[in-house]
Amino acid sequence: MGWLNWLLIVYLSCSFLIPSTHELQSYQTQLLLQLRKHLEYPPMLDVWENPNGDLCNLSTSHMSIICEDNTVSELKIMGDKLTKVSEFKGFAIPNQTLSESFSIDSFATTLTRLTSLKFLSLMSLGIWGPLPDKIHRLYSLQLLDLSSNFIYGSVPPELSRLVKLSSLTLDGNYFNETVPDWLDSLSKLTTLSLKNNRFTGEFPSSICKIKTLTGIALSHNQLTGKLPDLRTLTSLHVLDLRENKLDSDLPAMPKGLITVLLSNNSFSGKIPAHFGELSRLQHLDLSLNHLTGNPPTTLFSLPNLSYLNLASNKLSGSLPSQLRCSSKLGFVDISSNRFVGGLPPCLNSPSGKVIAKSGGNCLSIDNKNQLPESYCEEAEMEGKQTRGRTIGVLVAIIGGVVLVVGLFLFAFPIFRRRYCSSKTTEQNIVSKVVQDTTPAGVPSEILANARFISQVTKLGTQGAPICSVFSLEELKEATNNFDSSAFMGEGPTGKVYKGRLENGTYVAIRTLALLKKQSIQNLRVRLDLLSKLHHPHLVGLLGHCADGGLVDSSSNKVFLVYEYMPNGTYRSHLSETSPEKVLKWSDRLAILIGVAKAVHFLHTGVIPGTFSNRLKTNNILFDEHRIAKLSDYGMTIITEEIERLDAKGEGTKFCPYKINLEDDIYNFGFILLESLVGPIVTGKREAFLLNEMVSQSSNSYECPVKVISRFSVFQTAHFVVKLLQASFGSQDGRRRIVDPIVLTTCSQESLSIVVSLTSKCISPEPSNRPSFEDILWNLQYAAQVQATADSDLKSDSTN
Ligand SMILES: *[C@@H]1O[C@H](CO)[C@@H](O)[C@H](O)[C@H]1NC(C)=O
Ligand SMILES: *[C@@H]1O[C@H](CO)[C@@H](O)[C@H](O)[C@H]1NC(C)=O
Ligand SMILES: *[C@@H]1O[C@H](CO)[C@@H](O)[C@H](O)[C@H]1NC(C)=O
Ligand SMILES: *[C@@H]1O[C@H](CO)[C@@H](O)[C@H](O)[C@H]1NC(C)=O
Ligand SMILES: *[C@@H]1O[C@H](CO)[C@@H](O)[C@H](O)[C@H]1NC(C)=O
Repeated sequence: MGWLNWLLIVYLSCSFLIPSTHELQSYQTQLLLQLRKHLEYPPMLDVWENPNGDLCNLSTSHMSIICEDNTVSELKIMGDKLTKVSEFKGFAIPNQTLSESFSIDSFATTLTRLTSLKFLSLMSLGIWGPLPDKIHRLYSLQLLDLSSNFIYGSVPPELSRLVKLSSLTLDGNYFNETVPDWLDSLSKLTTLSLKNNRFTGEFPSSICKIKTLTGIALSHNQLTGKLPDLRTLTSLHVLDLRENKLDSDLPAMPKGLITVLLSNNSFSGKIPAHFGELSRLQHLDLSLNHLTGNPPTTLFSLPNLSYLNLASNKLSGSLPSQLRCSSKLGFVDISSNRFVGGLPPCLNSPSGKVIAKSGGNCLSIDNKNQLPESYCEEAEMEGKQTRGRTIGVLVAIIGGVVLVVGLFLFAFPIFRRRYCSSKTTEQNIVSKVVQDTTPAGVPSEILANARFISQVTKLGTQGAPICSVFSLEELKEATNNFDSSAFMGEGPTGKVYKGRLENGTYVAIRTLALLKKQSIQNLRVRLDLLSKLHHPHLVGLLGHCADGGLVDSSSNKVFLVYEYMPNGTYRSHLSETSPEKVLKWSDRLAILIGVAKAVHFLHTGVIPGTFSNRLKTNNILFDEHRIAKLSDYGMTIITEEIERLDAKGEGTKFCPYKINLEDDIYNFGFILLESLVGPIVTGKREAFLLNEMVSQSSNSYECPVKVISRFSVFQTAHFVVKLLQASFGSQDGRRRIVDPIVLTTCSQESLSIVVSLTSKCISPEPSNRPSFEDILWNLQYAAQVQATADSDLKSDSTN
């Protein structure tokens, strides 16, 4: 007995003191499990539940743990609390933050016991409260990322003791005090990202002492005052200060800058001449400020510049006709300024290499969006008068009043139009902003900008072949004079024909009824742009034929020549019942991922981003290798100009930028839904769903009469998603709604990821909808989960 006891004690103490060589110390495991409890058991940590052995080097797409010497050195968790509220008062919000009983202080106490942590990333977990200063105990930290939570107050000064920190990211929280002025204590810092908070005060000049910095992102805060001389930041590549209230002149900038984003501030004065010497610059955005004077002409010829946005300032004077543009330049926006004179040829070239926006100026070009020259001159005079107040105050006041009244009476209708057109030209900026505020995009933002630039560079010069131009004769020949045997169908823009070119290639030819106001030159530029959109999951535009009808205004038609897709639409495949043709769940996920990638590319991979891509299951086609490709995308590139003109007079109703972007997300939600339940508007299913809705609604949320009277495909969809969620728990419920092919080929976890994604996409509240990056990520996660389940199944059946 004594012996046994003794042995047991020896054994226990040994196993406690000397952990087996590969296992995480059990103390650390306990800490991790406690953290999970603090975080209220988020679903992505379910994998911690029953680890066969230990948590070391465990990783899924939503979390990862890496160990060194049996202690945790890296902990990354990406939560699913993605929605953001505009009003956050510092208290828990149901379903958004962790619950009222969460204590950020005890959470931090547990966390800081993982003393070997080098990389810590806790995103979108609903963590709320002020950041506890004890975080500094994690003295080995090299990377700290707490993006997209609900942390407020100040960044505690004790953080300055984390001297190994090289990357600090606190984006998308509610920090509401000043940007710390001790950041120069972090002498190894390379990335500082504090975007989308409520930081106030000035840009601390101590930041200029951190010579290691390569990226600074402080956009979407409330910084005021002066931006200091930044020349000491010799390693800096990216400077993003968009949407603050900085109101100084533009300061001196370091030579190494590649991306400079200063839009939507109150910068004034001239654009300093040395901006035209920032030779590595690729992307410069100074739009929506109060900049005056004539911009340095060397700006346009910076060798690597691909994106230049000077829109909505008070820039004046004329651009010299011999202005040289960089060969990489792909996009220039000078709209809504006070430029006069002509548009230099390099910004107005018919070859369409540079997409230039110039509306809302007083340029003497043939374009309806220009104001009379007197407006720009007077506006400039007015600016000078208000500045030089000492000169005859009385004269200024009287002159001013006369001027303002005169301008108002005379310019009001023009102003409305101008306002609208300037809004459209701002779409790009807004698009990036919207993109950036999505949590998943946060850490990659700087990279995203880089990618964004490189894409444009690609579009600019190399690679992409110029869109071929077909003659009407060629197309007539290819289609046997548009014979009815070649007719394939009719889309919203016109008829589609199948054709066979001389060299034997099959093509799809889409006719596009043209709008009268469009100039041929403008159209060519846009068609070229459209044909440059190359992506493995986009049906490629091979060329166009725009000469025929345009001359004769009675039959203005354009023909777009696309690659031919022989294998039908996604929709027809979803209705397929023969066993060898049905799409299994994993096939559907692969198709959805491909399409999501293509849409993501359309939104962010090109300038200007292309939104409203008419996403629907009918527009997803299969090529000869049965690869899914999106068709009918990017039509806004061609129609934008017209819509803008047509929309004048509608005032604020137009410019529905946000709606456009969300359109795609919303419509993608329907594609997801049809992937789950099968095509929605095929008669039988509709009747069934209606029936189901009525029977369900009598015992749940909505009154059946209301449902039926408001019945529309959209409402059906909302209801179906609700229904899916409600009945998802029971096998019976699932069986009634989900497509049986899906049911028999999916794992429940994978399915439930997509169900929840679907409901977010078609959420009636646009701010609840995920970004395409999130969508893509969730789909990939679902596919991974499914692949794991499938391989488990396979190994089970072989055993
Ligand atoms: C975890 O990965 C690290 C580095 O990849 C390695 O050094 C360590 O031995 C691994 N630990 C376990 C338990 O596999
Ligand atoms: C910061 O936000 C918190 C929570 O909303 C609030 O209680 C506090 O007063 C704010 N502080 C400042 C300086 O605005
Ligand atoms: C929070 O979520 C739960 C379950 O997901 C739901 O039942 C509840 O209605 C939601 N509450 C609010 C306020 O949205
Ligand atoms: C500019 O910033 C303000 C807030 O500072 C914001 O409300 C507005 O939408 C921004 N405009 C654009 C075009 O981004
Ligand atoms: C311009 O870009 C190219 C390729 O991205 C790079 O090799 C070159 O050094 C850049 N030029 C300057 C002046 O930075």
